[in-house]
Amino acid sequence: MSLQEKLETLKVATLAKIEAVNELNALNQIRVEVLGKKGPITEVLRGMKDLSAEERPKVGSFANEIRDLLVEKIDEKKTTLEAAALLVALEKESIDVTLPGKQMPVGTRHVLTKIMEEIEDIFIGMGYQVVEGFEVEKDHYNFERMNLPKDHPARDMQDTFYISEEVLIRTHTSPVQARTMEKHDFTKGPLRMISPGKVFRRDTDDATHSHQFHQIEGLVIDKNVTMGDLKGTLEKLMQKMFGADRQIRLRPSYFPFTEPSVEVDVSCFKCGGSGCNVCKQTGWIEILGAGMVHPNVLEMSGIDSSVYSGFAFGLGPDRIAMLRYGVNDIRNFYLNDIRFIHQFKGE
Ligand code: PHE
Repeated sequence: MSLQEKLETLKVATLAKIEAVNELNALNQIRVEVLGKKGPITEVLRGMKDLSAEERPKVGSFANEIRDLLVEKIDEKKTTLEAAALLVALEKESIDVTLPGKQMPVGTRHVLTKIMEEIEDIFIGMGYQVVEGFEVEKDHYNFERMNLPKDHPARDMQDTFYISEEVLIRTHTSPVQARTMEKHDFTKGPLRMISPGKVFRRDTDDATHSHQFHQIEGLVIDKNVTMGDLKGTLEKLMQKMFGADRQIRLRPSYFPFTEPSVEVDVSCFKCGGSGCNVCKQTGWIEILGAGMVHPNVLEMSGIDSSVYSGFAFGLGPDRIAMLRYGVNDIRNFYLNDIRFIHQFKGE
């Protein structure tokens, strides 16, 4: 077989192989085999030294032609195979952008936290400071300094979890007021504070009682503070919380730490006063206790009661939340049932 014939056979066979191959690695294999240094074309070119001067250029250019043709065909096939491989990959890795996304569970602040922050914001706006104290307290601050000496019968109003004879978990946030009063420097101005937080009482849990609940107590002490200031402040608070039309009324009551003491009602935010299930047909909702700070309480905190006077009040965020959202069982706030808690997401 002449070299030309050899080359022609090689060309036909290789073109057939290129045609048949359908995989990039295999194609590359053909390239190496046919065009590589040890391949048949190189071999032919090497054998040219044995040819006559006349034949040499012919065979040379024929070999080059064939090589160029094969290179071209291999490149073409390579492009085709690569495009096909890309299609397969795209198909396999395709993302359906119309699928709904995976929902990440997002938490929400507890409804009581929100109510308390709302009330705190109202008082901060009126120039009050927010003071947090200890949940574990001394009997001294929780009771004695609130005008409730050891054998005082009114201690029964607040059934207490004692840790020892002198230490308890607080039954109200009043000890925070006692601790703040004794430190306050009245030459720098009046005392205006609220104390939000958890409180604890030995109650049997039912729909309206929980051994743990919350309070926000307020205290203002200055010269010439009157019951009128108390009433105006609470009226503003109720209007901000329950609507601009709200009115309040004060009824006489008793607390050991205030004199006089009052129970405060707010006109019903649901029916406006005509009577409904929220206000039990009375038009009024019992909302908080308050009064003028007892002189004994001032004196025990080192404040001259002939110069200074003050008012105090105690709010129950749990009760406020129950009224506002129609929650009929206080225990819901403490069960951490996600279905209950999530209802207040948008609030
Ligand atoms: N400390 C009272 C309580 O828990 C609430 C209160 C505070 C009442 C201030 C009147 C004045 O019962």
